[in-house]
Amino acid sequence: MKDRRTILKSALALGLGARSLNVLHAQSDDPRRARPQEGDRFVFAFGPRQGETIRVDDVPVASEQIFSFAMDPSSGAVRDGSLLNQVLLLRFDPDSLAPETREASVDGVVAYSGICPHTGCDVEGWSEDTGFLVCSCHDSEFDPRDGAEVISGPAPRRLPSLPLRSEDGVLVAAGGFSATIRFEEEF
Ligand code: FES
Repeated sequence: MKDRRTILKSALALGLGARSLNVLHAQSDDPRRARPQEGDRFVFAFGPRQGETIRVDDVPVASEQIFSFAMDPSSGAVRDGSLLNQVLLLRFDPDSLAPETREASVDGVVAYSGICPHTGCDVEGWSEDTGFLVCSCHDSEFDPRDGAEVISGPAPRRLPSLPLRSEDGVLVAAGGFSATIRFEEEF
């Protein structure tokens, strides 16, 4: 996750402040910049397995989130051309998931946007005690077992979710994000 933070800091250093990043949400014909779509696979965004396809069993139960990007299976294009495309993957006991969350999950794996809707930081924290996702910029917490509902902090809304299915054990997007990826501007 340090790598991810470095990338965001680099973007900010280049003048791509929160306001600019927010503009990046516009869809594009470039498959690398387009948001995740139905049928996409997922690849590890960072770390020693960066670029490898993610299978359901690669996502550990009750453990911190995996940062991923969707991949267009027909062209092989990884959708890493926008900082707003990152997808968090986590896994829980399916019985612990709220009904709507379970419906969008596969074998307990759930997927959410990794961009905090407050001012656009990465949601890179995770509480082992509660299982909540944590944005450490201003301490917002989200419950990934219940649609990433906001538990505490200044985040104005939940994290958009991404429905999943599996094909031969490989994680596949069953649709796009539940909402536009956006965040408040910093002043
Ligand atoms: S940017 Fe996440 S809590 Fe402020």
